[in-house]
Amino acid sequence: MEQEKILITGANGQLGSVLVGRLQEKHGVHNVIATDLRSNKNFIGIFEILDVLDLEKLSSLVLKYKITQIYHLAAILSANGEKSPVLTWDINTKTFCNILETSLINKVKKVFFPSSIAVYGKDAPKHKTSQNHELTPSTVYGISKVAGENWAKYYFENHGLDVRSLRFPGIIGYQSLPGGGTTDYAVDIYHKAINGNDFECFLAKNMILPMIYMQDAIRAIIELMDAPKKCIKIRTSYNITGMSFSPEELTLSIQKFYPNFKTYYRPDFRQKIAASWPSSVDDSCAKKDWNWNPLFLIDDMTETMIKELKRKDKI
Ligand code: SER
Repeated sequence: MEQEKILITGANGQLGSVLVGRLQEKHGVHNVIATDLRSNKNFIGIFEILDVLDLEKLSSLVLKYKITQIYHLAAILSANGEKSPVLTWDINTKTFCNILETSLINKVKKVFFPSSIAVYGKDAPKHKTSQNHELTPSTVYGISKVAGENWAKYYFENHGLDVRSLRFPGIIGYQSLPGGGTTDYAVDIYHKAINGNDFECFLAKNMILPMIYMQDAIRAIIELMDAPKKCIKIRTSYNITGMSFSPEELTLSIQKFYPNFKTYYRPDFRQKIAASWPSSVDDSCAKKDWNWNPLFLIDDMTETMIKELKRKDKI
């Protein structure tokens, strides 16, 4: 079998920094090229500075390393997106077009594109929102993800480019911090709890959102990308989820370990974004097509998060 050569954009981000390690394990450290806007002094492996808006530099890296797979994680998330809508459109959409075009020209075999629950709008049913419900997003982030999903399908149907995608809910992990998203609270809350602080939440206490534990999110990407081509029936993006909970329910889960831990609620503009999203999504297509199966529920996640964050704190 031909050795895969992997390029990742947004490698310093919440998901990227963990995915890089997993891909290095799978394909070998020297076959994974991590890229981001800024260098990362703690990085072990091959790292290149890349602004994905720079098509020339992107193409030269794909050519130089004979890249066979691209994981395009560079993006502006939902809350930051509302502060700079036009920039967000450029970063989230133009960079993906650059990735698709470069992939086509340089015969890259597979591309991964993360979409989001933000593709749904406020009129979609909240509970177990179906894969095929109409997509009328309320944020520029959601608009850019709907466009990206359609670009993915377009390149697959018109050029045979094997682009695969997942609609992620909020991702929660101990290894890295999210930035500029609406689901970020669900990571921040653990950092406050283990440091003995109270938490001020920017969402309402009963705002239920779909979430996934990092380990499940990474495994979903690997399993989707490894699945035989004939199993990938959806060429826009697959709904996946791990669990759904509100800030109040997450607080109760943490209080099993820290009984005195308290969350105060001061909803801001992010509450409106959250209220436009589903509280749970139907991921039965992913289960049927490529055997998706999440392992972590809220209390398993809380136990692992607290254990790992405390361990990191001691190092
Ligand atoms: N986690 C993302 C955000 O909050 C949603 O995909 O923006």
